[in-house]
Amino acid sequence: MLSYYGRLSSEVYDMDKPIGHSFGDIEFYMNRLASCEGIILEPATGTGRMLIPLLERGLNVEGFDSSKDMLYVCKNNCIKRNLNPKLFEANMESFSNDTKYDAIIVPAGTFLLIHNRADSIKVLHNFYKHLSNGGRLIVDIFLQSDISIGTVSTRTWKCSNGDIIALENKIAEVDYINQYTISYGRYEKWREGVLLQTELEYFPLRWYGVEEFKLILESIGFKDIVISSDYKFGQYPTDTEKVITFESVANK
Ligand SMILES: C[S@@+](CC[C@H](N)C(=O)[O-])C[C@H]1O[C@@H](n2cnc3c(N)ncnc32)[C@H](O)[C@@H]1O
Repeated sequence: MLSYYGRLSSEVYDMDKPIGHSFGDIEFYMNRLASCEGIILEPATGTGRMLIPLLERGLNVEGFDSSKDMLYVCKNNCIKRNLNPKLFEANMESFSNDTKYDAIIVPAGTFLLIHNRADSIKVLHNFYKHLSNGGRLIVDIFLQSDISIGTVSTRTWKCSNGDIIALENKIAEVDYINQYTISYGRYEKWREGVLLQTELEYFPLRWYGVEEFKLILESIGFKDIVISSDYKFGQYPTDTEKVITFESVANK
């Protein structure tokens, strides 16, 4: 079985995008959530890159993730800062609890990881169900403007103990009908020329049209949808390279 946000992948995520590392999103989300007095949920919270700055700002945030390795890193990151948020292992498709959240946030294009259309609809219904009346869903997506099969990218990171982690990423498949790409990431950890650990990650990624995603949110029941780009609230996208954020309200 291929891995998915496994040990090496989680280690790299935490090194490459440490807590507080912002794409412009942390400031944007903090601003949008400033008036939020209830509980906020970050599904797929990962290492806590976004969760921890929000907690440190005094917001009441819970998180979950499907990856044990990501959650392990997240819990450690919280402990180091004397934070003790509610964190649990779950899937976006099936998580279920009695909390009604004032906001659910999905930054960093993470929603695109749900590459199967039926599952993505299921996730949005599940988010809607877990929001309070008037609760907000804030989700980032991005467009894939340059897809060519076989494109390979490589990166390396040096760990604090001198180990090297190399990642080779290759786009292997594009499904234009169902709107997703499949990439494979090969992680290798090296120490003094000896291969210590390796991991092969299966990485599907969906894309949406801007108005398509708005229509999907409306079909779930979300209202008052505001589309933003480049983390400028209400600025309709004009640049395909910039992140697009959808904020919408569950009016029940
Ligand atoms: C790109 S990371 C984003 C982490 C964090 N939200 C951030 O902004 O830094 C994506 C995370 O989504 C998690 N994930 C992917 N599919 C998931 C699913 N179906 N349910 C829950 N978590 C999922 C992965 O394990 C990973 O931790």
